[in-house]
Amino acid sequence: MTGDELRSAFLRFFEKKGHKILPSASLIPDDPQLLFTVAGMVPFKPIFWGKVEPVYTRVTTCQKCLRTNDIENVGRTPRHQTFFEMLGNFSFGDYFKKEAIIWAWEFVTEVLKLEKDRLWITVYEEDEESFKIWKDIVGVCEKKIIRMGKDTNFWGPAGPTGPCGPCSEIHYDTGLNEDCSDGECTPANSDKRFLEIWNLVFTEFYQDEKGALYPLPRKNIDTGAGLERVASVVQKTGSNFETDIFKPIISKIEDVLGVEYKKDEQKDISIRVIADHSRAVSFLIADGVFPSNEERGYVLRRILRRAVRHGVLLGAQKPFLHLINETVIEHMGNTYSELKNRKDLILEVTRAEEERFFKTISQGNEMLRDIISRSSKVIDGEDVFKLYDTYGFPPDIVVDVAKDYNLKVDLEGFEKLMKIQRERARSARNNVEYAKSQEIYDELAQKSKTVFVGYDTLECEAKVI
Ligand code: ALA
Repeated sequence: MTGDELRSAFLRFFEKKGHKILPSASLIPDDPQLLFTVAGMVPFKPIFWGKVEPVYTRVTTCQKCLRTNDIENVGRTPRHQTFFEMLGNFSFGDYFKKEAIIWAWEFVTEVLKLEKDRLWITVYEEDEESFKIWKDIVGVCEKKIIRMGKDTNFWGPAGPTGPCGPCSEIHYDTGLNEDCSDGECTPANSDKRFLEIWNLVFTEFYQDEKGALYPLPRKNIDTGAGLERVASVVQKTGSNFETDIFKPIISKIEDVLGVEYKKDEQKDISIRVIADHSRAVSFLIADGVFPSNEERGYVLRRILRRAVRHGVLLGAQKPFLHLINETVIEHMGNTYSELKNRKDLILEVTRAEEERFFKTISQGNEMLRDIISRSSKVIDGEDVFKLYDTYGFPPDIVVDVAKDYNLKVDLEGFEKLMKIQRERARSARNNVEYAKSQEIYDELAQKSKTVFVGYDTLECEAKVI
């Protein structure tokens, strides 16, 4: 089953169960609490919350998502991605735990035909009802239903406050040998061997700023299964990056950069980073994000530059990422028409930002030469930090160059400074509701009336207030 077939099998399955198939919403949510759409449920938050009445009470989607909290791991593991597609079925006050669980099992065992004996279940430790449904109705043996705590089996809210609830996950036993020091391997102690493939959230609470829970007006269902991850299980590739979803992108990287995947682990990391990031960059630009030094634009800039940096590690000396994006657009443009419609924009914005970054790298090189000439044995962590902070100049390139001069690099010192900066950024972020600006616009809208004249004119006089 290809990724495309999997996506469509999922949507059709739930359509047959009375769900309305809706298209993916934008990566930029209409949500003052979030920078990006991080899960399939994000576009439906106001419905879960009880602020908006649903048009359909059963919905299914394949949602474009972006998560950057684990970006450092992308490329280093078979699973981590920034951009991914999340398959989900949703119930807004319609069906609840029983149907959600029975249908999830039916889909994985009868449509995907995953071997039942490889499937394990986790449930929230206080959720006896789900435990019983899995055991008595679905017939999973008790030993393979693991009760787990709030840190793993309670999902949400997406944002500082909002809808959330206990969850139950389906895990796939890859059969990989792992040394589980505390006894038999289970999803509770072995996340290399067991792969979480589907999360069923029973969204029945609202959580406030202090973490207190209140019942929502309706009991809802929110499920999420990562398309690439499920594809890796169905296609038995052992890695998301080896599924048909990534194959053409990786081939293009091999062609453009003259490298070969699966020859050198260090290079493979860079290839996977570029493969992941080219998708994120293409989709972000398609949804209207431009590189900048703030908020969403900054995230895009970081992702794009990280991809370029890894290209440089593979020997790139000029912009190349826009060429990879071309393949992303070709490969995914039939499913996501925004890629095709904004192809020129995606390629041009990527190429321009790449050029800027290549200049940065050459400016950084000058500063680095200076630093090298005054360093005797070790390049100071503070210098590495300065290079990174001022020019975005990558420390791994510093390490590379330093080797040629028999110098060591004080990466520990660099990391310490980075940590301080990250903490500063994190505490600043915690205080921000991203669309504080939304309020300003709302206020303005109250004060003055803007008339839309774009239907019959291309120019007009206006006053900026
Ligand atoms: N919203 C749930 C998740 O992202 C399904 O895991």
